[in-house]
Amino acid sequence: MKSVLFVCLGNICRSPTAEGVFRYLCEQAGVSSRVDIDSAGTGAWHVGHPPDVRAQAAALKRGIDLSQQRARAVSDADFEVFDYILAMDQANLQELLARSPTKHAHKIQLYMEFAQDATVAEVPDPYYGEGDGFERVLDLVMDAGKGLIRVL
Ligand code: 4NP
Repeated sequence: MKSVLFVCLGNICRSPTAEGVFRYLCEQAGVSSRVDIDSAGTGAWHVGHPPDVRAQAAALKRGIDLSQQRARAVSDADFEVFDYILAMDQANLQELLARSPTKHAHKIQLYMEFAQDATVAEVPDPYYGEGDGFERVLDLVMDAGKGLIRVL
């Protein structure tokens, strides 16, 4: 069994989308029973909230239902529990590295390192943006998710 934690700032846009998409990819690949998947935010403002309605709508267009997910904050236990702790951007990465016990720091990396097509290093925050930011998030986490499945 492998475990994966996706991390962004608020846990209402990018990391819940990454979680839902990766669950979907694992189901498609028939490996769901071999992977534990969760997401969390480095910030706690949205704890208990469902994903942003824009994230939910964009995911649902691709057949992925995020409505049952609820935001939570990263906890100290997460560094012990998870095998992979995957940050959406550099700010998330630095925050995680600052909080992690040294012995678990090797688990922390940028999610886009697993991407096969995209050449960007980060999943941009769509929260304050206009337009197709949520579509872009979906494209990026789909790409990285396919790469991660290969590695697990
Ligand atoms: P996320 O997006 O980190 O992808 O969930 C954000 C959600 C909320 C806020 C910032 C980013 N916020 O400032 O409330």
